[in-house]
Amino acid sequence: MSKPKVYITRNLPDEIIEPYKGDLDIEMWPEKEVPVDRHILLEHARTSEGLLTMLTDSVDKELLQQSENLSIVANMAVGYDNVDVVRARKKNVAVSNTPDVLTETTADLTFCLLMATARRLVEANQYIKDNQWKNWSPLMLAGSDIHGKTIGIVGMGRIGEAVAKRAKGFGMKVLYHNRSRKKEVEENLGAIYTAFDSLLEQADYVVCLTPLTDETRHMFDASAFKKMKTEAFFINVSRGGTMDEQALYRAITDNEIAGAGLDVFEEEPILSNHPLLALPEVICLPHIGSATKETRYKMMTLSLDNLVRHFQGKPLLTPVT
Ligand code: DGY
Repeated sequence: MSKPKVYITRNLPDEIIEPYKGDLDIEMWPEKEVPVDRHILLEHARTSEGLLTMLTDSVDKELLQQSENLSIVANMAVGYDNVDVVRARKKNVAVSNTPDVLTETTADLTFCLLMATARRLVEANQYIKDNQWKNWSPLMLAGSDIHGKTIGIVGMGRIGEAVAKRAKGFGMKVLYHNRSRKKEVEENLGAIYTAFDSLLEQADYVVCLTPLTDETRHMFDASAFKKMKTEAFFINVSRGGTMDEQALYRAITDNEIAGAGLDVFEEEPILSNHPLLALPEVICLPHIGSATKETRYKMMTLSLDNLVRHFQGKPLLTPVT
């Protein structure tokens, strides 16, 4: 029996792919760092039965319209705003993502970014490298406390909950805003459901972990930043589209808020001349929320398992419903 043709849009390690070659006829974009060329992706989408995609690939109307043989897209990310899920469903193309396996790793990075931003770690490191450490002084590189402060988590999904746990461990008060209330998070972690505006007004650290949808696009705009405390920080580890970067830049330069820690941007990758990079109060990371070897390997394996199960007629482990 012939094996289903699957195209993987990035060069994944041999030791991950090898065990799947018995079940899948795998072709792969040869580059590890560079996304697949759009026309190559379209070509393979036309002839493949399955795609294993990255968050950098747009699985949109154009692609889905031409993909007569395609029956599954396994997206190697928990977020799937790069996939037109509604159109895929209409075309009977199943979609899977990679939740759970990246929850703790992404929560680690979120907290790490919050701490680095509050305690000015990047500036402090640069300070020594630039040979500026001549003396100790009472307010040299003084940052902001984390313990005892209030964190406001916007988007209380699995990652939000894992961040709330870490915040509790640091003795923080936890506020959250979400589409629906999460009773178990309130009971287990003492997190307090708070209206969006009120969360902005109260939190010392506003942490965005909400998926990007039509409702959340630019939810952090000029008026949202104006509501935040002048000493508060904005941390974003979800998707850049949830914030208006120009408004964020203005909010920081006009001293409406204290700074930001960003792992995501409206257009990725950003270049070294991006205005936010010029601000010492901002730490920018290149979308590394889930980037540990252990977790990235689990995300690859989960995506491949979903492909195999789909072609065996079994339910997907992590379907996007
Ligand atoms: C995801 O899985 O959506 C993350 O952004 C990738 O790190």
